[in-house]
Amino acid sequence: MKMLHLALILLSLSDVLTQDSNWGVKYPQKQICAVRGFSVSIPCSYYYPTSNPIQVTEKLWCSMNSNTDLCKNPPYVYNSASNTKSDFEFTGDDKSDCTLRIHNVQFSYSGEYRFRCITNVEKWTGYPGVTLQVTDLKVSLIRLSGNGTLKPGDSLNLTCDVTCTQSSSQFVWFKNNELLPESGAVLHFPALTLRDSGNYTCTWKTNTTSGSKTISLQIEDVLTQDSNWGVKYADNQICAVRGFSVSIPCSYYYPIINPNIQVEQMLWCSMNSNTDQCHHPPYVYNSASNTKSDFEFTGDDKSNCTLLIHNVQFNYSGEYKFRFITDISVGRWTGDPGVTLQVTDLKVSLIRLSGNGTFKPGDSLNLTCDVNCTQSSSQFVWSKNNELLPESGAALHFPALTLRDSGNYTCTWKTNTTSGSKTISLPVEEHPDHWSIWMIFCVIAGLSLIISGAVIYSRRRVHTEQQKKDDSDLHAKVQEMESDSDIYANIQQKEDDFELYANA
Ligand SMILES: *[C@@H]1O[C@H](CO)[C@@H](O)[C@H](O)[C@H]1NC(C)=O
Ligand SMILES: *[C@@H]1O[C@H](CO)[C@@H](O)[C@H](O)[C@H]1NC(C)=O
Ligand SMILES: *[C@@H]1O[C@H](CO)[C@@H](O)[C@H](O)[C@H]1NC(C)=O
Ligand SMILES: *[C@@H]1O[C@H](CO)[C@@H](O)[C@H](O)[C@H]1NC(C)=O
Ligand SMILES: *[C@@H]1O[C@H](CO)[C@@H](O)[C@H](O)[C@H]1NC(C)=O
Ligand SMILES: *[C@@H]1O[C@H](CO)[C@@H](O)[C@H](O)[C@H]1NC(C)=O
Ligand SMILES: *[C@@H]1O[C@H](CO)[C@@H](O)[C@H](O)[C@H]1NC(C)=O
Ligand SMILES: *[C@@H]1O[C@H](CO)[C@@H](O)[C@H](O)[C@H]1NC(C)=O
Ligand SMILES: *[C@@H]1O[C@H](CO)[C@@H](O)[C@H](O)[C@H]1NC(C)=O
Ligand SMILES: *[C@@H]1O[C@H](CO)[C@@H](O)[C@H](O)[C@H]1NC(C)=O
Ligand SMILES: *[C@@H]1O[C@H](CO)[C@@H](O)[C@H](O)[C@H]1NC(C)=O
Repeated sequence: MKMLHLALILLSLSDVLTQDSNWGVKYPQKQICAVRGFSVSIPCSYYYPTSNPIQVTEKLWCSMNSNTDLCKNPPYVYNSASNTKSDFEFTGDDKSDCTLRIHNVQFSYSGEYRFRCITNVEKWTGYPGVTLQVTDLKVSLIRLSGNGTLKPGDSLNLTCDVTCTQSSSQFVWFKNNELLPESGAVLHFPALTLRDSGNYTCTWKTNTTSGSKTISLQIEDVLTQDSNWGVKYADNQICAVRGFSVSIPCSYYYPIINPNIQVEQMLWCSMNSNTDQCHHPPYVYNSASNTKSDFEFTGDDKSNCTLLIHNVQFNYSGEYKFRFITDISVGRWTGDPGVTLQVTDLKVSLIRLSGNGTFKPGDSLNLTCDVNCTQSSSQFVWSKNNELLPESGAALHFPALTLRDSGNYTCTWKTNTTSGSKTISLPVEEHPDHWSIWMIFCVIAGLSLIISGAVIYSRRRVHTEQQKKDDSDLHAKVQEMESDSDIYANIQQKEDDFELYANA
């Protein structure tokens, strides 16, 4: 009777239980980390007065990512009344254990989880719940000495990293699935030996979950210390213009004294997708399974490992490494560090130095070409309507535009491994008051014609009258005109031209 009374009070308090009540949910850990892809348990216990015969009728788990209230209404990630198979498994019981196990956790599973219990007497929710944080485990290789393929004597660290704050966790290492005595986030190799080759797994453990990640180490014997094995990249830094092609010059070598060495496989890796020394896929080029892509191998199986990349995109930026494998067991080599490709855009801009509005004769401007990339030796070449201009350099300077300067100007940026270009159109329009210059010209030309006509007429007259008159005032006047007037001279020239034309 007393119990029922209490229950009624609790109901009226809408499921909120007092601190010292005998009803409740306990989460030993409020904050739990899990590694993506692995399983995690959310420990949970619940309790109720044991004096009465209380029956648990329903158990529910909610994710606050989808549920908006105190887990009173669906959706539930687990519901004992309608159990369907999912990543959310109830591993508790009907008495006191409400542990939830989540399998194959994904980033989207991060969030708060709450347990709710419904009995024949009472229902309540454990609030606040448990916050789950999903993270990735990262294993990285940090070289402390040496370069290229891992060789005996090189020194390195393998480090394991999880970005999550969990009060008590531990790192355990395995080599080829066998537990190593070392623990801690770092596995230190002061001097590698051939026996260190293998698959290293870092396992991160807490008392509710564990996750692991594997990295492969391949230590390759160098036949002799001063052996002739290697990969050479002509440039370690290469720029390319988006949309164009770029070639990564590369050469490789191995002891030629041994005539039996055959190159069996050639590989190129992008460090954007490949995480080891190009020992495993993905490859951007693999001679063993060549498929058509933007990455074309233009080298050979002897010594040239040049890679030609077509239609480069911004996401092709990054480091590329070449690896070759020969038919002798220790004859494998990766050229490390590789070549860093930087993809950029070519910008052509027009800088007005005078004038405004449309481009008019007499305006002054610069066309400049810009590529945001540091390449030791590159050059800019300009062409106009596809014809090469003698000028070179990043800027094309127009001190005073003329109508003939109209056209499409293309800037081409060239290095010894790539070239890219961009075109800009420069329309030069006639001066708006050009017609008045024409008017003036026409008036002058007309006047000149009249004068020259007069001159010719008077010449004839002078010629015919010469016998009668020795000196003509008019003649003298015209002579003066002949020597003084530029216009007259111009007209004469024009007349000469017409004659030429007539002759032709
Ligand atoms: C690799 O290391 C050796 C010895 O430390 C050095 O002589 C060589 O220049 C390095 N090569 C590259 C490409 O860094
Ligand atoms: C490599 O590991 C050693 C031993 O754990 C540590 O002292 C050193 O700081 C680490 N070096 C790097 C660069 O991580
Ligand atoms: C290491 O892993 C790779 C691929 O995951 C496998 O091919 C190789 O056999 C493994 N090596 C050892 C020594 O277990
Ligand atoms: C797990 O570890 C945490 C923190 O050390 C501790 O509070 C909790 O009781 C432990 N849980 C179990 C089930 O051992
Ligand atoms: C390209 O030019 C750079 C810098 O001038 C030079 O180091 C490199 O060897 C050249 N590469 C080729 C393939 O000519
Ligand atoms: C390698 O091949 C490329 C493309 O076929 C060629 O341009 C380059 O000259 C070759 N390099 C050498 C060193 O022969
Ligand atoms: C670059 O991005 C495109 C999509 O934008 C993708 O299809 C392609 O695989 C990416 N390439 C590389 C090398 O990352
Ligand atoms: C264009 O230039 C002319 C002469 O320099 C000036 O008078 C005029 O205000 C300018 N117009 C604009 C819109 O800047
Ligand atoms: C030039 O490139 C660098 C690095 O690639 C970038 O940080 C910078 O913003 C670029 N500058 C311009 C003007 O695009
Ligand atoms: C325009 O080009 C000339 C010649 O290349 C250069 O001297 C001048 O600084 C440039 N002016 C601007 C504003 O870019
Ligand atoms: C310049 O380019 C435009 C568009 O690309 C084209 O219509 C025009 O004919 C070109 N002009 C010349 C002179 O080539």
